[in-house]
Amino acid sequence: MNTRKNQRNLTSSQRTRFVEAVLELKRSGRYEKYVRTHAQYFTSDGENGLRVAHMAPTFFPWHRQFVLYFERDLQLIDPSVTVPYWDWTVDNEESSALWSADFMGGNGRQSDGQVMTGPFAYGNGKWPITFGVTDEKYLTRNIGRPDRPIRLPTKAELDGALALGTYDTAPWNSAPGTQGFRNRIEGWTVSESKGGYLHNRVHQWVGGHMIGAASPNDPVFWLHHAFIDLIWVRWQRLHPKSGYLPMKPMAGSDRERGRVISADEPMPPFNVKPSEMFDHRPYYRYEE
Ligand code: CU
Ligand code: CU
Repeated sequence: MNTRKNQRNLTSSQRTRFVEAVLELKRSGRYEKYVRTHAQYFTSDGENGLRVAHMAPTFFPWHRQFVLYFERDLQLIDPSVTVPYWDWTVDNEESSALWSADFMGGNGRQSDGQVMTGPFAYGNGKWPITFGVTDEKYLTRNIGRPDRPIRLPTKAELDGALALGTYDTAPWNSAPGTQGFRNRIEGWTVSESKGGYLHNRVHQWVGGHMIGAASPNDPVFWLHHAFIDLIWVRWQRLHPKSGYLPMKPMAGSDRERGRVISADEPMPPFNVKPSEMFDHRPYYRYEE
């Protein structure tokens, strides 16, 4: 059985095997597919058409499937590898071992944000950025956003979101009125000074490529999203009588019809229904 571990508990050989598998996926050309798919499905509320990956109830099941496909691709290279998770309520400093030269590598340098250390530094020749929203060929980070300092979400903030008993509410988007668990975790509901803005804040805190549509260019994306996935597991455990919403397709008169996916409608591009992703246990477990 696949077990996903907290990244802080990986042995040095487990760290290396994860990094090597990611580098091999990149070398083979198969990594870019994930960057492209994520960019393609980065629809915002303002645009017309279906929202599936973000600003929608399918935020959790879509990313669960996305990370799972990635993990299976890594396992074709090294069957011992799983995607570790980054608990950013604990490892919340740039000094965390997460950012060491044998794992994710460090911050971007001040002049241009270029990551200079670790396996994903451009100078190592193994991590060229080929599909981005900007032109840089090198991975960038801007940890903590020094010009407008930001901190990672705290355990209290996460617990506040986990306490919400409703998965999601109409209009199922990123509007501040959408006060369910999904929107609170995804991070559109409350300003960062008020402790909202959880998943999005982590993307902002890392900065550089982690901001925006092509965020899987930074491999820490997977560690962040494995933790987001674990947060969904914890919420399900805390609220066994609550579940995914909406369960039924939108009514014909609903403005969100054709834009929001209910439990038994397929999620593009995977052709998998949210209901098939409710239970992670057939696929992997978490060591907590
Ligand atoms: Cu995403
Ligand atoms: Cu994300």
